Amino acid sequence: MEIVILPDAADSGHLAGGAVAALLARKPDAVLGLATGSSPLPVYDDLVARYTAGEISFARATAFTLDEYVGLPADHPERYSTVIREAFTSRVDLRPDAVHGPDGLATDIPAACAAYDAAIAEAGGIDLQILGIGTDGHIAFNEPGSSLASRTRIKTLTHQTRADNARFFGGDIDAVPTRCLTQGLGTIMEAGHIVLTASGQNKAEAVHQLAEGGVSALWPATILQHHPHVSVLVDEAAASRLQLASYYRQTWAAKPEWQGL
Ligand code: GLP
Repeated sequence: MEIVILPDAADSGHLAGGAVAALLARKPDAVLGLATGSSPLPVYDDLVARYTAGEISFARATAFTLDEYVGLPADHPERYSTVIREAFTSRVDLRPDAVHGPDGLATDIPAACAAYDAAIAEAGGIDLQILGIGTDGHIAFNEPGSSLASRTRIKTLTHQTRADNARFFGGDIDAVPTRCLTQGLGTIMEAGHIVLTASGQNKAEAVHQLAEGGVSALWPATILQHHPHVSVLVDEAAASRLQLASYYRQTWAAKPEWQGL
């Protein structure tokens, strides 16, 4: 796991955007994993800037999102399928039918979840997964206690996650759905390269656990310690609890540019 400590979230966005651009250059039909939440927004802004400048194209790419609320009406602005379209996919040349997400309105939820994992596999697997992290260490919506081998499935959100996400629902925690569909930790672990971004003091403990804690279902993101290619891009505040911060800084400063992320 590589930890990169950067001055601010825009720098993380630029670095992550560079990794996506390099992937598209060598594999124009790449399969991208997209995350919602506020953390990846600078990544999407950077990718839109590169696309607008004519540097990259997503015309042959495919995308899979991580998760979705269960039961939000099709026209609800906070459905993740809507959120990702507005934040990113409609701003570049990704074909709308090449963007997939778990179906939070499915009548047969287990079948929809199994079909989602099968669709990712059929597309050849995710080449690069953009990821955020929750304050309680969740990734996608894999809350503490999640099986470290889990597949896409239905989950119940913790009170903490609903409180964190209430800001997207007018500050009303009761308006935040209680359940969601989410790629499992086992599903996420199959991505070729995982680029996780985090910023702000409220992520400091989760980032410390992710990189330096014992692997445990209590901090689901710690499963990423078992992945061979994870890049964690954090700002100073999110890095503030890292025990080995000075080593990470030295390592990054000494890294030859050709290595990329
Ligand atoms: C949400 C999403 C996650 C996201 C996390 C952090 O609940 N399901 O994919 O990484 O919580 O969100 P934010 O980046 O807004 O802090």
